[in-house]
Amino acid sequence: MEKDKESVFNSVPEFEYQEKAVSIDAAEFVKLCESRRSVRVFENAPIPEDVVEKCLDLAMLAPNSSNLQPWEFYWPKSADKKRQVVEACLGQPAASTAAEIIVVVARTKTWKKHARQMVELFKTSEQKVPDSALSYYEKIVPFAYTQGPLSIIGLFKRVTLFFLGFFRPIPREPVNHQQMILWASKTAALACENLMLAFRAFGYDTCPMEGLDSRRMRKILGLPRDAVVVMAIGAGQRSARGVYGPRIRFPRDQFIKRI
Ligand SMILES: Cc1cc2nc3c(=O)[nH]c(=O)nc-3n(C[C@H](O)[C@H](O)[C@H](O)COP(=O)(O)O)c2cc1C
Repeated sequence: MEKDKESVFNSVPEFEYQEKAVSIDAAEFVKLCESRRSVRVFENAPIPEDVVEKCLDLAMLAPNSSNLQPWEFYWPKSADKKRQVVEACLGQPAASTAAEIIVVVARTKTWKKHARQMVELFKTSEQKVPDSALSYYEKIVPFAYTQGPLSIIGLFKRVTLFFLGFFRPIPREPVNHQQMILWASKTAALACENLMLAFRAFGYDTCPMEGLDSRRMRKILGLPRDAVVVMAIGAGQRSARGVYGPRIRFPRDQFIKRI
């Protein structure tokens, strides 16, 4: 690669760290994915607290944009809070019969604090952190995610990137608040899938729910303005009548495009 065309995106930084890939039982993973169903009715049985905690830890291992972790997980613990959350989930059986409900929230403005946290961690790390990593969080991240009031800075970036884009490939989004919501929600949704697969791995089941009153949910959770309710996830022990029917997926040719 010519030096002048190198950037933080296309160059491999200097570092010594190594982490070997562990081997996984693929058949078990196939079983995990295939047995995850949206379960709408749960048995009246608890999930041990340490299992929920572990599943939340696993949710937080999901890949996430720039490692800025723009997610939050709200776990109603009191009977009254849970009742309110069930009500905000429109009283769906997947919520009312669930042993636990986790509401997954995306945050569009925590990236600044998290970028500073990354810089702090890098500066105090015993491992040598490449300069490009520091500069990524100190310079590129603020450029990429600052949108300004009424996304005015975003508009300026959009115009700049439009012209720059004539000469080379460039990342063009996010350049407004709506795109920040998409940005944070993509990442939060990946955590949701991790969370659901984690519960399945521990023998429990889940149902993701976007059928909810987001306004009421925001109030119940006491969310700040930049927060977006991504989905609520009911979890528990699958009831015999918990799955409403066989899984339906359309033919794979409809979706998998070999190009
Ligand atoms: C973002 C999202 C929102 C969903 N919202 C609801 C919901 O509000 N209520 C519900 O019963 N199922 C809900 N589902 C579950 C889907 O209906 C279900 O995933 C789909 O029918 C496929 O079935 P499967 O999950 O068993 O494979 C939701 C799923 C996703 C991914």
